[in-house]
Amino acid sequence: MQSSQDFFKDNGYLKVSNFISDDVQTLLYTYVLNSAQRLANIHENLGQGNYNTTRWGTYEDQQAFGDYSLYGDMMFDTILSSKTEQMKNLTGLNLFPTYSYHRLYTTDSVLDKHIDRKSCEVSTTLCLGYDVSNVNSKMYPDYNWPMWVKTKNNEDVPVHLQPGEMLIYRGCEIEHWRDKFKGNNHAQVFLHYNEVDGQYNNLYDGRKFLGMPHNSVDIEPSLTLNTFDINDYTVEDDNGEYKWIIK
Ligand SMILES: [Fe+2]
Repeated sequence: MQSSQDFFKDNGYLKVSNFISDDVQTLLYTYVLNSAQRLANIHENLGQGNYNTTRWGTYEDQQAFGDYSLYGDMMFDTILSSKTEQMKNLTGLNLFPTYSYHRLYTTDSVLDKHIDRKSCEVSTTLCLGYDVSNVNSKMYPDYNWPMWVKTKNNEDVPVHLQPGEMLIYRGCEIEHWRDKFKGNNHAQVFLHYNEVDGQYNNLYDGRKFLGMPHNSVDIEPSLTLNTFDINDYTVEDDNGEYKWIIK
């Protein structure tokens, strides 16, 4: 039987089972649902443009406009980093981490056909969980929303991922996309790597540390420029106690 390394080498993609345990998968799916709910609450209360999207997430990613997405979350960047050895074994490549990105797709989400940027030389999409309880099971038995890849032989292949399963693919070479989603929600995290001494070589996607925003100027400037004023961040309630304001 062909090894995973040989399959990846020959085809540029590879499906992996049990990349994370059931416990971790359940934890992370709940984590994404809670994070998306937190953003919905912040967005509703503060309004678009009035909160820090690099910390709380955004609905404005053009790839999935209207869906919760977040770059470089510390939890997922930590998983990204801690899985490097496993990724080396699966692909047969010497890799280092660049960045993680997670998203909660919702009803009617579409991912247009595309290839990824340079920090996604070796890309992955890991299924954390989904809710398709709204889908008519008689019309669509065992509905599972596939990611499509175009193989080197120009074939369109649907890859169905159960929670805990992952697709690895050469992000800058293999076209990938998703057709319209019928379910309620579907959580994926994308873990990205570059080859050591490869053509891109962009450790941590150009950041100094994991868990940081993509662009360091996105870090709250009032905190980094030493002009921090506690009154900008707190409000006094009726009992004379100070509460933090989410920005
Ligand atoms: Fe992509």
